[in-house]
Amino acid sequence: MSPKERATGGLRSQAWWDNDGNPEMTALYLERYLNFGLTQAELQSGRPIIGIAQTGSDLVPCDRHHLALADRVRDGIRDGGGMPLEFPVHPLQETGKRPTAALDRNLAYLGLVEVLYGYPLDGVVLTTGCDKTTPACLAAAATVNIPAIVLSGGPMLNGYRQGERVAASGSGLVIWQSKRLLATGEIDYPEFLARVAASAPSIGHCNTMGTALSMNSLAEALGMSLPCCAAIPAPYRRRGQMAYDTGRRAVDLVREDLTPRKIMTMRAFENAIVVASAIAASTNVPVHINAIARHVGVPLTIQDWQRVGAGIPVLTNVAPAGEFLGEDFYRAGGVPAVMRSLLAAGRLHGDVVTVSGRTVAENLADAPPADSAVIRPFDEPIAERGGLLVMTGNLFDSAVMKTSVLTPGLRAVSDYRAVVFDGPEDYHARIDDPGLGLDEECILVIRYTGPIGYPGSAEVVNMEVPAALLLRGVTTLPTLGDGRQSGTSDAPSILNATPEAAVGGNLAILRTGDRIRIDLDDARVDVLLPDDEIAARWADHTPPELDNQTPWQEIYRSTVGQLDSGACLELALKYQDLVRTKGIPRDSH
Ligand code: FES
Ligand code: MG
Repeated sequence: MSPKERATGGLRSQAWWDNDGNPEMTALYLERYLNFGLTQAELQSGRPIIGIAQTGSDLVPCDRHHLALADRVRDGIRDGGGMPLEFPVHPLQETGKRPTAALDRNLAYLGLVEVLYGYPLDGVVLTTGCDKTTPACLAAAATVNIPAIVLSGGPMLNGYRQGERVAASGSGLVIWQSKRLLATGEIDYPEFLARVAASAPSIGHCNTMGTALSMNSLAEALGMSLPCCAAIPAPYRRRGQMAYDTGRRAVDLVREDLTPRKIMTMRAFENAIVVASAIAASTNVPVHINAIARHVGVPLTIQDWQRVGAGIPVLTNVAPAGEFLGEDFYRAGGVPAVMRSLLAAGRLHGDVVTVSGRTVAENLADAPPADSAVIRPFDEPIAERGGLLVMTGNLFDSAVMKTSVLTPGLRAVSDYRAVVFDGPEDYHARIDDPGLGLDEECILVIRYTGPIGYPGSAEVVNMEVPAALLLRGVTTLPTLGDGRQSGTSDAPSILNATPEAAVGGNLAILRTGDRIRIDLDDARVDVLLPDDEIAARWADHTPPELDNQTPWQEIYRSTVGQLDSGACLELALKYQDLVRTKGIPRDSH
């Protein structure tokens, strides 16, 4: 605690509102916050100032209802004895941002770090929803380390089309499935659009276990939201009540000085990995969770995902791994029901503290039993093995594969003929070319789609097979790439290859026609080429020119790391626990 903080009862906001060494500055800091009706007495009352980091806007439909939920958050903060100040977070809409919202996760992170550190805030409610909002917010709160609590926005309701439940999500399962039907002529374009629209029947984020529901579930598993927060559907009344409880609790977090670094410990991250396996979480979560861990100073690695998460069964029967959607998941008991059964099976650390002020075990003591159709008992899972296979080989140091999408008939060792694309434009231009000679023995490879290559790392590794193959009954081919895949995808893909082709990964010298061996037992992917041939191809290699379209793209490319370690801004990692290591920022005038 800085001398100023000590002088003001420990609240950093009082260094603005009651800057006793400098009455002129106090006046300057106070006056403009009075102009919309706040009073001097309120601001100087010593009540904790709680920020509401608002991720919703017209540009971010997945989170837009947070604009209304914030009223209930404010009520909770006031009733808890604090004062709310709401402010915007840089928009992060997965389906709207070109070239990819992944590019902006670190921009939103940077912006939020500046706000949390540079304004009179004692704690913060992080409103989360769409994919990148959760990691951007949690990583920023971790860096600054003021007390923080997540309020998830919740999934959309179940969607129906002609009496059938439609697996929804903006960029989700319904799209991948309907695209196949459109390609084979089973449906026309108006029906394609009608299906996609039916999948999004209400406010809320994707309702499959895509990246949004996965990340919000893991925020809860980490202990950063109140129990049961993640899965309450956006329109349910309980969502508003959760907003109120979250606001109220935020004030106590400040009084208890219960900071992100006290909650997000290595053991909490191990719990999150176990839950990720049990819910068959999106393949994007290791990227985001590893990023949060690094910003909070926990040395989590991609190998930890296999060490901790392999062998944990998949318990949730939720799409894309299963049949149900977010609304069903909530009614079946949500994250607490999953965690209760993992704890009973001895797979969770029950003693770690959470934002509720209680431990995981204490939170779960009164969790109702699960509806077993949607959340299976530990010994009757929908798949014996969840989690990720972390693969290596002579094409990359690491890449991940979701074990829950491995089909039982898959051979342990298989050789494939590589068909290589330089990014999604090249893939779209050539995938239907009969000259590619595509058949079941092929693997589709896409490169220059990682954090630096794309830039931002695109969700393009889940490549669809051409109509000609679909008509022959081949619905998927294995795929490999240095980008990511949609968390809602159901394809068997090897993705997040690190290092990416643009920074010297061997995917760069791969050619169509090369043989690739996939060994699932040894978790290896190798191109069957001698080392001297690989070296000769590098000697011959001209890397593609990387064109920056905006200043941020240039800054991002100059400091971003690789997907295995979270695709963080590497220069940001030396900034840890700002409130304690840097104190209060200098006066502004
Ligand atoms: Fe926003 Fe899926 S597009 S949650
Ligand atoms: Mg996505």
